[in-house]
Amino acid sequence: MIPARPLFLVGFMGSGKSTVGRELASLAGRTFEDADRTIESLEGRSIEEIFRDSGEAHFRDVEARVVRGFAGRDDSVVALGGGAFQRADQRRWMQREGCTVWLDVTLEVARQRVGGGQGRPLWDANDALALRALFEQRRAVYALAAFRVDANGRPREVAEAIFGRFC
Ligand code: S3P
Repeated sequence: MIPARPLFLVGFMGSGKSTVGRELASLAGRTFEDADRTIESLEGRSIEEIFRDSGEAHFRDVEARVVRGFAGRDDSVVALGGGAFQRADQRRWMQREGCTVWLDVTLEVARQRVGGGQGRPLWDANDALALRALFEQRRAVYALAAFRVDANGRPREVAEAIFGRFC
């Protein structure tokens, strides 16, 4: 059973956090929340525009506020942006306040899903080495989530694998 705590889905860009999150919320009768969409509506502009016009540091500040806003939202499944689990203080907060699940995909699968990286400022499709380095560095941190699920398959199956088995 999924406990009465917010369930935070973490993982690299293209790991399927939003798609799986929506499926899982519907399976579990929970509310689905997408941190990136919340950031966009708070800011009144897209992630791409935030990064371009105000920089990543500003994006991370807003993201931190949005993440903490999920405190006590015990009926929710929250899809986080790929970088939200990287900051140690934020990560510890999520581990304390909710249940963290890492959607683990290979970079190849992520690449098939993300393509050229439209709308994702940190996805550098032109620099395979830099992308691989970011992927490996992030993986080491995602591994600190309470649970890991293989997310290379179909979203519905990944959601089913989470539902009823974790937390
Ligand atoms: C980011 C991932 C994006 C979004 C922003 C930064 C990251 O979300 O939050 O572009 O640092 O990995 P997705 O993981 O949903 O693409």
